[in-house]
Amino acid sequence: MSVRAKHFFWAAFGLMTLYVLYVYETPFLDSRSPVWAHVEPVKWLLLPHAAAGALALLLAPFQFSARLRARSPRLHRSLGRLYAVGVAVSAPAAIPVAIILGPPTLVMAATIQSCGWLLTTALGIYAITRGDTGQHREWMTRSYPFAMVFVLARALLAIPAVRALGEVGLVSVVWSCVAAACFVPTLLLGMPALRRRATRTAARPVARAKAATGGLNHAPLA
Ligand code: HEM
Repeated sequence: MSVRAKHFFWAAFGLMTLYVLYVYETPFLDSRSPVWAHVEPVKWLLLPHAAAGALALLLAPFQFSARLRARSPRLHRSLGRLYAVGVAVSAPAAIPVAIILGPPTLVMAATIQSCGWLLTTALGIYAITRGDTGQHREWMTRSYPFAMVFVLARALLAIPAVRALGEVGLVSVVWSCVAAACFVPTLLLGMPALRRRATRTAARPVARAKAATGGLNHAPLA
């Protein structure tokens, strides 16, 4: 991804996050809001889940900055540890929250999202403890999209046409976002290698023609 595309992506995602936090989380500031009755059965689980999830969600974008990594590797390590703690607390707590609050059609989506988030983060940490920076970056790139589901799913559910679909809309959006978190990062990570291979394949007939003509750019005279 070019630097400009990266900046555009993070700016768009930042705005989406602010919108989602405003729409879905500001009602929690009012103690008489019906959202409190909805989360009452899980309020003690939701607190660590949401606080640790928010920590991970907000810290991770800084970790993708090459400039920050180069200028302050210690800060990158400290933020990385906080991200890992955020995932370790938020992801397991999400499963009982999903089971208790329902709907049952989303329990497996929450379980896959939680396990995917834990597994990819654990593999990212394992890679860096082995000194493998390339694999560390790749697994962390696979980890963060599981947190992004929180923002993307809620942003899509705020679209009136989607909301009007009721539970079908909710289930379709959540499952689609979880599926995207599972495969889109791997697809994007594979793109540069695919492009390099395509360039090499395209260059091969030219190289073969050059070899046949002894380096001349026209056929040798008979
Ligand atoms: C594995 C990832 C995650 C899963 C499976 C998950 C699952 C859930 C579930 C099932 C609920 C209850 C929804 C309801 O019925 O209202 C919930 C609520 C919540 N989650 Fe998560 N979550 C995840 C990640 C995150 C992240 C990264 C954040 C970061 C901000 C977060 C913040 C919250 C908050 C604030 C609530 C309560 C308010 C609301 O529903 O908007 N979660 N989560």
